[in-house]
Amino acid sequence: MSTPIINRVIQFISRSAGIVLTAEKAYFIEARLSPVVREEKAASIDELMTRAERGDRRIAQRIVDALTTNETFFFRDKTPFDHFRNIMIPELVSRRPPGKAIRIWCAACSSGQEPFSLIMLLDEMKAQLGGRNVEIHASDISEAILSKAKAGLYNQFEVQRGLPTKLLLQYFTKEGDNWKISQDVVRRVNFFKFNLLEDMRNLGTFDIVFCRNVLIYFDRPTRGKIFAQIADRLAPDGFMMLGGAESTFGVTDRFTSHPKERMIHLPLAQRAAPRIATA
Ligand SMILES: C[S@@+](CC[C@H](N)C(=O)[O-])C[C@H]1O[C@@H](n2cnc3c(N)ncnc32)[C@H](O)[C@@H]1O
Repeated sequence: MSTPIINRVIQFISRSAGIVLTAEKAYFIEARLSPVVREEKAASIDELMTRAERGDRRIAQRIVDALTTNETFFFRDKTPFDHFRNIMIPELVSRRPPGKAIRIWCAACSSGQEPFSLIMLLDEMKAQLGGRNVEIHASDISEAILSKAKAGLYNQFEVQRGLPTKLLLQYFTKEGDNWKISQDVVRRVNFFKFNLLEDMRNLGTFDIVFCRNVLIYFDRPTRGKIFAQIADRLAPDGFMMLGGAESTFGVTDRFTSHPKERMIHLPLAQRAAPRIATA
């Protein structure tokens, strides 16, 4: 692949998804886009890019789908889910009147394992919720991966990653070589397509935002803008969780750490003095 073509792809994916690829990723770009070239009966990656840039939105979406990395698994990294169960939900329950829904957003949900893991935990915590309604909203930029999430169909390898056997048997049924999660669980998640570069104001206010393992693909200014938007979308006493390799440090001053657990990020009101969180 020639340098001008690589640069064309790099600029396209940066503009459309915020994802930073470098010229060393030429092999990755070629490996991901070659099947799309074949399936779309294009002559080359260059032709694919021309079609996308001339306004073919379907092709543009296919390119984004191909260049996003959708690695995920059930209860990924475990600790964020422990904090969800032991800190975030109990604190919200103690502050929220029973009639008020708790709103959670998985902001880059990939094939659904993250929101589905939260549903399974919430079921375990049912008594603690005191009848509170918990809404789970889950979005991703990739239409292909959202279709997979909505289908709730996983292969043996996927269900073996992080999912306890008890929960596999409780929530999934075998379909050929695959496992299908109960449609009741799928229906409890509001899946929607959303690009984190977009304006978030129409999304409403959330109590918890999981934005994990996606900001690593963006540059610092893009991460700063996304953090500012998430801070604006969080309830003043809400929480944000990032991936293990992600941090707000040196990127934004819109968050502080939870006094009990530094991995939990608390929004700061703009220009306000840091709040003192309840112990
Ligand atoms: C590595 S997965 C992380 C999934 C899950 N949050 C986790 O931690 O396991 C990253 C996801 O971010 C999505 N993504 C990449 N760029 C995005 C953007 N600009 N807006 C929304 N989602 C994006 C990808 O499609 C992919 O599914």
